[in-house]
Amino acid sequence: MKNIVIFGAPGCGKGTQSERLIDKFGFYHISTGEVLRDHIARGTELGKIADTYISKGQLIPDELMLDILSNLLDSEAVAGKSIIFDGFPRTVRQAEELERILRERDRQVDTVIGLEVADEMLVERLINRGKETGRADDNLDTIKHRLEVYHNQTQPLQEFYTNNGLYKAIDGSKTVDAIADQIALEIERI
Ligand code: AP5
Ligand code: MG
Repeated sequence: MKNIVIFGAPGCGKGTQSERLIDKFGFYHISTGEVLRDHIARGTELGKIADTYISKGQLIPDELMLDILSNLLDSEAVAGKSIIFDGFPRTVRQAEELERILRERDRQVDTVIGLEVADEMLVERLINRGKETGRADDNLDTIKHRLEVYHNQTQPLQEFYTNNGLYKAIDGSKTVDAIADQIALEIERI
């Protein structure tokens, strides 16, 4: 069982590359953003809370996110499968807790794929996606705030995962195919 974190700023291609990995390697995909958007769409209590943060481009509180993640990891759908974590962890606390949560389940993070893309390109991608899909947080004000939150709260994880030898930087500005090939090489090396 491999456990991969796909890491990077909003719009860097985490979801796009996760789909490729699911097709090629059969990973179980945990996208915390998708889990939360699903709750919002279903109008659950959690969805109502999550919406107040997501619509402003803020992170939902760590405790809440960690509870959701632990429950997901204990679901039958995940048992015995390799996992790709997309959009989690996003704070140093989430990363530290992920280590503990995985250790308790005889798992560990095997590699962290960091998709690196300049902010101007991220904004352009997200504005385009907003027009195509209507995703609620893909408007210029919220995008700018998401990027600020990324740089302040999430980017420090690059150092965390560089220091423990897991971080693999990948140029996320290339084509989807070129990036997918490079990620596949990293995963085959584990
Ligand atoms: P989340 O859903 O994780 O969103 P995000 O990090 O902002 O990232 P995106 O999903 O927008 O982008 P992506 O990297 O998946 O890129 P994609 O492949 O779609 O989180 C949303 C919110 O939920 C957060 O703001 C927060 O409020 C909350 N949340 C989630 N997780 C949380 C956590 N752990 N803790 C606390 N709060 C949490 O690509 C983007 C676009 O670019 C697409 O249109 C795609 O077609 C295009 N594209 C992709 N790759 C390429 C390429 N190589 N070349 C050209 N175009 C490309
Ligand atoms: Mg995504």
